[in-house]
Amino acid sequence: MEKPETILVVDDSADTVEMLRRNLASRGFAVLTATSVTQAVKVLETAQVGLVVTDIKMPDIDGFSLMRHIRENYKAIAVLAITGFPTIDGAIRAMKTGAEEYLIKPFTDEELFSAVDRSLRRLRLTQRTHTRTIMPERCGLVGESPAMMAVFDAIARAASSTATVLIQGESGTGKELIARAIHYNSARARFPFVAVNCGGIPESLFESELFGYVKGAFSGATSTRAGFFQTADRGTILLDEISEASLAMQVKLLRVLQEREISLLGSSKPIKVDVRITAATNRDLYDHTLKGLFREDLFYRLNVITVSAPPLRERQEDIPLLAEHLLGVISEKYDRRPPRFSEEALEVMRQYSWPGNVRELENLIHRLTAMCTSDIIEIPDLPPSMRFSATCNSGLSRTLSQVEAEYVRDVLASVGGNKSTAAKILGVDRKTLREKLRKTGD
Ligand SMILES: Nc1ncnc2c1ncn2[C@@H]1O[C@H](COP(=O)(O)OP(=O)(O)OP(=O)(O)O)[C@@H](O)[C@H]1O
Ligand SMILES: [Mg+2]
Repeated sequence: MEKPETILVVDDSADTVEMLRRNLASRGFAVLTATSVTQAVKVLETAQVGLVVTDIKMPDIDGFSLMRHIRENYKAIAVLAITGFPTIDGAIRAMKTGAEEYLIKPFTDEELFSAVDRSLRRLRLTQRTHTRTIMPERCGLVGESPAMMAVFDAIARAASSTATVLIQGESGTGKELIARAIHYNSARARFPFVAVNCGGIPESLFESELFGYVKGAFSGATSTRAGFFQTADRGTILLDEISEASLAMQVKLLRVLQEREISLLGSSKPIKVDVRITAATNRDLYDHTLKGLFREDLFYRLNVITVSAPPLRERQEDIPLLAEHLLGVISEKYDRRPPRFSEEALEVMRQYSWPGNVRELENLIHRLTAMCTSDIIEIPDLPPSMRFSATCNSGLSRTLSQVEAEYVRDVLASVGGNKSTAAKILGVDRKTLREKLRKTGD
């Protein structure tokens, strides 16, 4: 017999929790419970949970925050969101935040069971595609090109040390996946991975979000709250888009890197933190230091190990593999049998320059999966800009007069510029040749 799946039920109402616990246990599931997000986060740290069933509206911290925490830290946990206040926006937000399913109160036992089954099945399907095409320790990073092999080597080296890592690369090249892979292959894998978008936090909130605050630190600080660094304790933090941190923020980050301690806002007592620091940027950070936009001392503290995420155009040979991998994952999300790419369509995709890198490829495949009705994706299904750049590269887009002009020039060159000989070879008289040369500007 397979081990029963463990479900964590989270709801601020103890009655609802008990009702769900009884129902799910009667179906053979192992059930854990929590009546707040904080409690749920603690349970997740120690228990092997397969599915979290969570209420959305809860006092203090809501279900969305829990979903985000799960998506950022536990790829293998499915989420079923429950709400008593249905709105379309809420449903869309729940799905975007990472819920596999969404259930509206009140619901029957049958509705609950089938939603639980669907959530678990979805998750297993995505896990299967992951293990089918990639090794689990690569955390979703696909590629066999020499450029990606170098990345996998760098990840392995970084994972076996505790040094700070700077991940550089263009937008959409997988920098966040690389940071996750480093964490999940390191000795810290059992502890949280916390990604912080330095560009997304307003300057005024930066300190309280990163370092937390004590009750009464400012008006509105009604209780003491942990910051990202404490949440990531014993785990790994990713300071994403580090180039966006202001100079004032950089000073505060430098202190953490040097002292390995933080102070909660409103408290003067420093607290030791044990966090592996990784940072990512799509800017040339060294160039930023030269321009005075980034502190040089912070740059050197961050840049102990560097990992470069290669753009897609430098690993074109990975495109068919990536496209197939993404088609599998995305089709299963849409409950579709994955279509195939025709050889020609794949060739066009290989030739394209992919300014948006893997994210652009992923978006394209989302659109193709949603819109393509046949089993095979052909060249006409691809966006016009991609088809256009392909014809430019293949040399098949020249007009007849362009070809003629080139041929005339070649012939003329081959006879040392002698116009009468060239005219003879071309089968025209000298006047016609002169006409043609005038038209092409020679
Ligand atoms: N090698 C890869 N294999 C599979 N999927 C990848 C790979 N690289 C990137 N992706 C996917 O592409 C998308 C973008 O990746 P990610 O968010 O890690 O990029 P990023 O470098 O952090 O981009 P940005 O600078 O815009 O934040 C993600 O959905 C990710 O899963
Ligand atoms: Mg990123």
